[in-house]
Amino acid sequence: MEYRHLGKSGLKVSAIAYGNWITHGSQIEEDAARACVLAALDAGISTFDTADVYAGGSAEEVLGRALKGVPRESVEICTKVYWPIGDGPNNSGLSRKHIAESLHNSLRRLGTDYVDLYQAHRYDHETPLEETLRAFDDLVRAGKALYIGVSEWRAEEIDAALRIAAQMGLDRIVSNQPQYNMLWRVIEPEVVPLCLREGVGQIVFSPIAQGVLTGKYQSGAQPPAGSRATDEKSGAAFISRWLNDEVLTAVAGLPALAAEAGLTPAQLAVAWVLHNPAVSAAIVGATRPEQVKDNAAAAGVRLEPDLLRKIDDTLAAVITRDPARTQSPSERP
Ligand SMILES: NC(=O)c1ccc[n+]([C@@H]2O[C@H](COP(=O)([O-])OP(=O)(O)OC[C@H]3O[C@@H](n4cnc5c(N)ncnc54)[C@H](OP(=O)(O)O)[C@@H]3O)[C@@H](O)[C@H]2O)c1
Repeated sequence: MEYRHLGKSGLKVSAIAYGNWITHGSQIEEDAARACVLAALDAGISTFDTADVYAGGSAEEVLGRALKGVPRESVEICTKVYWPIGDGPNNSGLSRKHIAESLHNSLRRLGTDYVDLYQAHRYDHETPLEETLRAFDDLVRAGKALYIGVSEWRAEEIDAALRIAAQMGLDRIVSNQPQYNMLWRVIEPEVVPLCLREGVGQIVFSPIAQGVLTGKYQSGAQPPAGSRATDEKSGAAFISRWLNDEVLTAVAGLPALAAEAGLTPAQLAVAWVLHNPAVSAAIVGATRPEQVKDNAAAAGVRLEPDLLRKIDDTLAAVITRDPARTQSPSERP
């Protein structure tokens, strides 16, 4: 495994992180979830990502149980706050009240006294940024969260947070967690240059586009049994955005390019995001241990410029680059 600094912070994360959205507490049974976590630890993965909202809190519980007995200092546990975890007016967003209460409940579900990275899952347009940053800073000072990050924030939102933290003497965000993969490159024009300049690391999600970049979904064919596209609880709805003829026809060209480089398609996809110097870690999901092993082998792989050009040519028609596509809800959900 390769370990990278999270931005310019002193914290090191495994270049491949393991995340449990859609899977733990939902698509897969607990023994499969535990097997994936053990496979991740075996592969040297030390960074685990979850959120208060995943599977209604069950994802944090399953992860907490799977990591039980693992020396706490040998792993980095990352969770998030923002999306609604109940119907009440203060059950979502980034108010001081919700941040404090949500972390309290996350720690209980995870069975730990602190998280390594606490992330604002989206930008909250209904709460002053000063209030949010002060609330995070208080948690850092109380030792409940060691570092603070954000997820899917626009460049100007990250910039404002850095400025306010400097002015108010508050802890500064160290990371952003955006969606980033060969098909979805919207962070490249604005978020990446700002974050490289400011030392904010990208810990990117869906590097394999939820499985689509493995080539397992083919135009006109039924999705493979047990895959996310067949998960009626939530996976099928989330992956459907990629399952159209145009995308599937383009990605059908990737397995041959991966083979030329001596990689599996999943490894090519993960190595591709890690090739970007702004990326501290790629958070992969997995439903079985073999997938974790496959993905983890992408750490340390170097991709040649010629291969990168061929990937761009193969996908040219289906790449999204517009930075305006990064958007948090205008009102708190
Ligand atoms: N901050 C946010 O808003 C946000 C949003 C989404 C995700 N995330 C984080 O990012 C993590 C990863 O997201 P993701 O699950 O969408 O990422 P992903 O790694 O792009 O997709 C993971 C899924 O692809 C399939 N897969 C993985 N490796 C494979 C392999 N080697 N061969 C074949 N299929 C493979 C598996 O699904 P099947 O086996 O079911 O096909 C797996 O569950 C999440 O768990 C979460 O921690 C964050």
